Amino acid sequence: MTLSITVRVAQDLAELSHQAALLFAERCRGAVEARGRYLVALSGGSTPRQLYTLLAQPPFVQQIEWGKVHFFWGDERCVPPDHPESNYRMVAESLLAHVPVPQENVHRAPVEAGDPEAVAAAYEEALRRFFLLGPGGLPRFDLVLLGMGADGHTASLFPGSPALEETSRLVVAAYTEALGSHRVTFTLPLINHARTAAFLVAGVDKRESLSAVLGGESRLPAGRVRPANGEVYWFVDRAARG
Ligand code: 6PG
Repeated sequence: MTLSITVRVAQDLAELSHQAALLFAERCRGAVEARGRYLVALSGGSTPRQLYTLLAQPPFVQQIEWGKVHFFWGDERCVPPDHPESNYRMVAESLLAHVPVPQENVHRAPVEAGDPEAVAAAYEEALRRFFLLGPGGLPRFDLVLLGMGADGHTASLFPGSPALEETSRLVVAAYTEALGSHRVTFTLPLINHARTAAFLVAGVDKRESLSAVLGGESRLPAGRVRPANGEVYWFVDRAARG
C-alpha cells in the first residue's frame, strides 16, 4: 500500500481545528464500526487545544462514542499530571473534563514511575499490556495526532536525537536542550504503524520546516512520519503554508 498524504490548508487555526475535528469523528465512526473501539494518541503543545475544545462541543460531542475511545499521549513532559507543562493536564482541562470518557480509557504516561527512562519503560509496558503484545509486536493506533515545532520536531523527537534511530522500542526518554525539558516520546516505528497520522501545524514560524517536509525533506523528524500502511493528514493554516 503506498503512503497517502493529504494536505488541507485552512485560513486560520479555527478552521484548521474544525477540519481536524471532522477527521477525528469520521475515523472514530469507522474504528468503532470495524473494531468496537477507537485508539487515539494525542499531541501536546498549544496548537491542538482548540481541536480538543471543539470535540467537547456540539456537534462533535454527540457524534463520538466516548465510551469506546481510548486516549494515549504521543509524548509527555516528565512533570506531575497537574503541572502547567503537562500535556495530560492540557487535555484534561480542554477535553476530558467535558466528555464521558471512562477513567480506565485514559492512559496517560506514568510520570510518577521515576526518572525519564523509568517512565518510558513503564509506558511501553502499559502499551504492550493494553495491546496484548509480545516482544517485537507493534501497537496500531487508529489515529496519532501530532504537532510540529519550528525546528521540524514532532512528538518529542528532536533533530539529531538518537531517539530518531530507535528501531525496536515503543517509547523512549528524550531531552531537549532548547526547551530544557525531560520528556518521553513515542518512537517512529510506533508512530509509523498508525492507520492515520494527523499533523496540526499553525503559525508563520513553522513555514520553513513545513515547506521542507511537504517538499519531501525527510531529514527533519516530522518528515520521517510515513506510515507504511497508513495515511498522513497535514492540517495547516495559511500562515504556516505561505
Ligand atoms: C509537546 C508536543 C510537541 C508540539 C510541538 C508544537 O509536547 O510540546 O508534543 O511536539 O506538538 O512542539 O507545539 P505547538 O503546538 O505549541 O506549536
